[in-house]
Amino acid sequence: MIEIKLSHKPLLSNTVEGYVFLLEENFSFNEDLKQIEKEFYPHLASILEKHDFKGRRGDYFVVTTPAHGTLKQFIFIGLGSLKKAWNENVEDLRRSLGVLVASLKKLCIKDAVLSLPSLQECKLDLPSLFETMAVTIHYADYEFITFKSEKKDKSYVGTLYFIAPHGSEVNLLEAALKKAAIIGEAALWARHCSDLPGNIITPTKLASEARGLADKHGLVCTIFGREKALEMGMGGFAAVDAGSDQDGKFVILEYKTKRADAPTIALVGKGVTFDTGGISLKPWNSMTGMKYDMSGAAAVIAALSIFGQLKPDVNVVGIAPLVENMPSGKATRQDDIVTFMNGKTAEIQNTDAEGRLILADALCYAEKFYKPECIIDIATLTGACVVALGHFFSALMTRDEKLAHNIEASALRSGDRVWRLPLHDDFKAAIKADVADLANTGKPAYGAGTITAGLFLENFVSKSKWAHLDIAGTAHDVPDINYMGRGSSGVGIRLFVDFVMNYRS
Ligand code: BES
Ligand code: ZN
Ligand code: ZN
Repeated sequence: MIEIKLSHKPLLSNTVEGYVFLLEENFSFNEDLKQIEKEFYPHLASILEKHDFKGRRGDYFVVTTPAHGTLKQFIFIGLGSLKKAWNENVEDLRRSLGVLVASLKKLCIKDAVLSLPSLQECKLDLPSLFETMAVTIHYADYEFITFKSEKKDKSYVGTLYFIAPHGSEVNLLEAALKKAAIIGEAALWARHCSDLPGNIITPTKLASEARGLADKHGLVCTIFGREKALEMGMGGFAAVDAGSDQDGKFVILEYKTKRADAPTIALVGKGVTFDTGGISLKPWNSMTGMKYDMSGAAAVIAALSIFGQLKPDVNVVGIAPLVENMPSGKATRQDDIVTFMNGKTAEIQNTDAEGRLILADALCYAEKFYKPECIIDIATLTGACVVALGHFFSALMTRDEKLAHNIEASALRSGDRVWRLPLHDDFKAAIKADVADLANTGKPAYGAGTITAGLFLENFVSKSKWAHLDIAGTAHDVPDINYMGRGSSGVGIRLFVDFVMNYRS
């Protein structure tokens, strides 16, 4: 991971290889730039102009000079006009940091210092701004290189200094950077797990990873398999698990605050380590990428490991049902009927709609044993979601206005963007079955596959406030958002951290 530290010296007094300027569109020359003109490049303004560097978003320019025994690099990155809504300005800032990290890696700059404009347009206090920036830099640093023989031992190691402005509250800035490192480390873990293929990250392996994190960060960890799940009446979990040679694992992580009478928040994540579709086998080209079908579970486990360290004043329980959806002689068939933990039944019309089956039991489990004030589930649940919203917004579904508002506020602040879809009674008829309480797919005449999946899940929450996040489009290979890189995006983690750390009943 890139190390991010505070510097208490003026920019050019830092002895580093790189000096980075994030500059707004039509920037004026500040003291630091004037000093570079004086010491290194008397014609800096004309050089930037000649190279059409105006500070627009995407503008990027580097000049290199041998000085004082090392090669000094001056990196100029455009921030854009910052005239949009504050959250969009913050997002522009994040993407300029994506450019920065790519540049540090490409130029092999082992240490650099960052000069910032005032960034009032981002409307964040300085510690929050530093936190967001540092988290983004950790995200941008991620690459899945474990299996690239040439690259695997050469991950980038570097230090970046943020200058603490004169008179700023240094301890708050230090805490912000520490918090960002905790979030960054957990997110990199989650993304690595999601990028690992199904032959490596089996339910057993992912469960043992979760236990390792729990032990390290003081969480209570409970894991059980197929037999116990059946004993508890988890017919949905067992039905998906049935076809695989890998034993499914039901993972529960608990963070407990010291605050008496604190409410509990439950986070539930879909953990299908590979989704072949089961007996309703996917065609090969739809199956590619189904290693990412455990991204919800990885986000939940990562979030719990963060709470073990940040210690919010609410209780948080993370539930991750982990299975592999496979066809075999033992696999669940179409037409089979399963009974969930709360006694409701569903007719399996398509074994590829497996996520809702394991989540149904996980939601029942969360309510029964933890009586949470609110539950949020997160799942790569429907291909329809990719069609409806693409890759930049996760779908949010909830009937609770206040919960919707709070999740939307967390999404705006954190950068894990959501867009709400209606959970409306009119769609309920789509998931009625003739021979059971529910059908696990929506009738084609109703369309709206993302909403009907959400309505299916609603049957398994009775008292808690509940929201559902469909991350089918956002969990991996998000185009254009440079700091998300290729492969897994870690979506949901930043959102959960913001939601839990700011939670009020
Ligand atoms: N894991 C998939 C959803 C998915 C599809 C995620 C594409 C990411 C990209 C899920 O289990 C699934 O297969 N859903 C089916 C449901 C259908 C059979 C009702 C789908 O979306 O096709
Ligand atoms: Zn599926
Ligand atoms: Zn799936």
